[in-house]
Amino acid sequence: MNLPRLRLFFTLAFCALADTLQTSINRTFVIDYDNNEFLKDGQVFRYVSGSLHYFRIPKQYWKDRIIKMKASGLNAISTYVEWSLHEPFPGVYDFEGIADIEYFLELIKDAGMYVLLRPGPYICAERDFGGFPYWLLNKTQQKSLRTNDPTYKEYVKKWFDVLMDKMKPYLYGNGGHIIMVQVENEYGSYFACDKNYTLWLRDLFRSYVQDKALLFTTDGCGTSYMKCGSIPEVYATVDFGASVNDSQDCFKYMREVHHSGPLVNSEFYPGWLSHWQEPNPLVFSKDVVRVMKQMLSLNASFNFYMFHGGTNFGFTSGANMNLNTPDAGYEPQLTSYDYDAPITEAGDLTEKYFMIQKTLFESKFLIQNEILPFWEPKARYGEFVLNPLASLFDEATQRIKPVISDSPLTFEFMDVNTGFVMYETNLSHDQKDIFSPTILNITGLRDRAIIYKDNVKIGTMCRAKGNTTMSVNISLSDEKLSILVENQGRVNYGSFLEDRKGILHQVKLGNKTLGPWKMTAHPLNETSWISSLKPVKKVQLPAYFRSEFVLPDIYRYFKLSDTYLDPSGWTKGVAFLNGINLGRYWPLGGPQVTLYVPGVFFLQPPAVNTLIMMELEGAPADLSVKFVDKPQLDGPITL
Ligand SMILES: *[C@@H]1O[C@H](CO)[C@@H](O)[C@H](O)[C@H]1NC(C)=O
Ligand SMILES: *[C@@H]1O[C@H](CO)[C@@H](O)[C@H](O)[C@H]1NC(C)=O
Ligand SMILES: *[C@@H]1O[C@H](CO)[C@@H](O)[C@H](O)[C@H]1NC(C)=O
Ligand SMILES: *[C@@H]1O[C@H](CO)[C@@H](O)[C@H](O)[C@H]1NC(C)=O
Ligand SMILES: *[C@@H]1O[C@H](CO)[C@@H](O)[C@H](O)[C@H]1NC(C)=O
Ligand SMILES: *[C@@H]1O[C@H](CO)[C@@H](O)[C@H](O)[C@H]1NC(C)=O
Repeated sequence: MNLPRLRLFFTLAFCALADTLQTSINRTFVIDYDNNEFLKDGQVFRYVSGSLHYFRIPKQYWKDRIIKMKASGLNAISTYVEWSLHEPFPGVYDFEGIADIEYFLELIKDAGMYVLLRPGPYICAERDFGGFPYWLLNKTQQKSLRTNDPTYKEYVKKWFDVLMDKMKPYLYGNGGHIIMVQVENEYGSYFACDKNYTLWLRDLFRSYVQDKALLFTTDGCGTSYMKCGSIPEVYATVDFGASVNDSQDCFKYMREVHHSGPLVNSEFYPGWLSHWQEPNPLVFSKDVVRVMKQMLSLNASFNFYMFHGGTNFGFTSGANMNLNTPDAGYEPQLTSYDYDAPITEAGDLTEKYFMIQKTLFESKFLIQNEILPFWEPKARYGEFVLNPLASLFDEATQRIKPVISDSPLTFEFMDVNTGFVMYETNLSHDQKDIFSPTILNITGLRDRAIIYKDNVKIGTMCRAKGNTTMSVNISLSDEKLSILVENQGRVNYGSFLEDRKGILHQVKLGNKTLGPWKMTAHPLNETSWISSLKPVKKVQLPAYFRSEFVLPDIYRYFKLSDTYLDPSGWTKGVAFLNGINLGRYWPLGGPQVTLYVPGVFFLQPPAVNTLIMMELEGAPADLSVKFVDKPQLDGPITL
């Protein structure tokens, strides 16, 4: 009937032979459509897996997280591969440090676990632009992403040639432990529904994977998702969380594509993602266990998404678009990706973890219960005072040559990936034959702006609140209008994926179009230059602040524990420790207050640690910040 079935026939024939010869040289991972099971080397195989993303965890902690997942009873780990991390610029590849995916795979292999690999190329994952590199927006035509467009496909193939060459030895049939490889990602949730693209992508995957691992797709719980997401001769699976009454309500959509085969939930949500200025969603352990038990009794295989979430360090978090409020539906995600997962952001085991472990033990999925320390002490490194350094209005902080243009340009057009762009224009007399106050209108604001007149703040605007106009008092003399635009993370899901940043349309003051514009980028991708800035007495916001400190001598002899940066009293900005971007902080937006800081980011005494904060809107009078031993991810929300 279809190819997998044919392959199964040969596999079984061979296994029988291999058994008699007592040698199992051929490694196979296939589907038994007659008995609704996976077969590994001819034997029934099921997995209970957990998602773990190497790109959200310091490399030094990968092994610890893998061992903890293994001890919970899981026999597999699922990971996305993030294109933007590995190909930051076209044709420039990075597989070092946190991008060392081969080392990550080796660690999983050492733990005796299998891998479900999800290379995308699009991955969603609550990451900036769904894992696509930002430069694709400057290389491809509009509406061409995730379609049969030749330019888009050319970049995908070039990237996959590099990636899949590295993945080949890890495929099960080649002696490795990758048993499944996912094609695309929830493609049924995307408007394009381009079958020519998915068939092309399938054949591209086949050219690397052949029959050395099983190809699969993952889509939402519904007919329409499966219709556009499933691909002929690729195993279609569903995803759903702990809120379903009966997991059959979702598995039935798998059966609309494959009338038989093992049931698979590729993303079973034991927690959920969270946005700024929204309460943190919680998922109850008892619901997780209830649905787990259903799936185990159906002999289903499933993957917890996430089992350990980790952190969106730097500017890596993405955003959602709420289609119910298209003008104000932009929902940027937090720096923390704790996810209310069984293992916390800092790697600690939760009640949820132990309830899952118990369930797997009782169901005989887990044979031996391992005892692990479930909590690592966190450090309270204390309070530090920061010195003001320089304002974004000072030339010393303007590292990139400004661009001049009649119309405002997007970040991507100027080849700016992250951070901020200051858009400046002179309000001349002929733009002021209008009565004051008048309305400043920045339609196409992506995503948040602070507005200044002659360097004095006069207001903020916010795409997420649909608030892109304000009343401005103007005078008859010449004035400078400055608009500092923040990229809060590119949309990662659904049909609004092409989320260019900056100012997309002309800016209007009354009925006048403003310009020309001088645009100065502050990508904050690099902070070493800040070491040349000397402390000053007072600084105008937005500005850089710095503290240099040596940890107490005792830490010469002990491992540096993890901690949390508590920016309470500060307003909104970005923090760096020893050149590492810890991520965006926004205690006033909530609900996330503290930023997770792994101990390995600090330097042991006598080395000097450098903490830098780029604060946008308000610093506390004493300019102090604390490292505390408890996270706060559920602080008050301001609207
Ligand atoms: C593996 O199986 C294939 C058929 O599926 C057979 O042609 C090949 O000789 C086998 N390899 C070994 C090393 O036995
Ligand atoms: C890409 O950026 C360059 C300038 O950096 C610009 O000239 C070009 O038009 C851009 N292309 C697209 C498709 O945006
Ligand atoms: C898909 O390919 C077929 C055959 O090449 C072509 O007729 C059809 O127009 C294509 N569809 C789209 C949406 O590009
Ligand atoms: C689940 O069951 C409850 C009570 O029977 C019902 O109110 C609810 O609508 C059901 N939810 C779904 C998604 O079917
Ligand atoms: C699950 O598998 C067992 C054999 O391992 C079998 O006895 C049972 O009938 C299966 N249950 C379902 C619902 O398929
Ligand atoms: C605004 O005017 C000042 C002083 O004439 C000039 O230096 C600056 O380049 C102008 N800015 C823009 C964006 O035209």
